Amino acid sequence: MNEVLKTISQRSSIRAYTAKKLTDAEIKALITAGLQAPTARNMQEVHISVIDGDNPILKEIDTQCKLTMLKAAPDDETKAKIESNPNNFYYNAPTVLILSADKDFKWSKLDAGITVQNIALAAQSMKLGSLIIGIIDDVMRGEKKDYFAKLLKFPDDHEFAIAVAVGHRATEKEPHEIDFDKSVSFI
Ligand SMILES: Cc1cc2nc3c(=O)[nH]c(=O)nc-3n(C[C@H](O)[C@H](O)[C@H](O)COP(=O)(O)O)c2cc1C
Repeated sequence: MNEVLKTISQRSSIRAYTAKKLTDAEIKALITAGLQAPTARNMQEVHISVIDGDNPILKEIDTQCKLTMLKAAPDDETKAKIESNPNNFYYNAPTVLILSADKDFKWSKLDAGITVQNIALAAQSMKLGSLIIGIIDDVMRGEKKDYFAKLLKFPDDHEFAIAVAVGHRATEKEPHEIDFDKSVSFI
């Protein structure tokens, strides 16, 4: 198997990280891989906000995320689960990248998805762990949308697309199983 296929096959979502910070060179390699992703019409409309894991902005987003989930919880059991969850949305990763993209461009979400996967695969190839994060979507589109967009320096007319946490793994996880019969048809 070649290196690209090996990297793709070995990537998995990591939900525990050591406290070790990423180096500037590692962060640069990750964002470069992200920006090298193809975009529709080569618009390159995806923007990456790089946030250190210690930045209080992350705690603020996490608190808002839990409040939003509590509000939407259908029953007490779900509420108790949310309240007792000891994890934050980025599992204490040392670096979080929040991707935003032009809200009026038809392909923004898809472009951001390709960008985030490039970052996740780059992380895997660098022996780092990553987690793609969508759970903050409701918060980033909720009542504090403009406030967070400003704090995260989204360019004008951009909105949240997806996020990714990256760091040194404190746990291993097997890649997910795949099911050719369910997922593929040869015509
Ligand atoms: C668009 C998208 C959003 C996701 N959002 C979250 C999230 O908010 N929190 C989380 O723990 N995992 C999230 N994941 C990770 C998925 O749960 C994970 O990719 C899936 O369970 C398959 O596991 P694997 O990545 O280890 O193969 C997300 C994945 C994708 C593609």
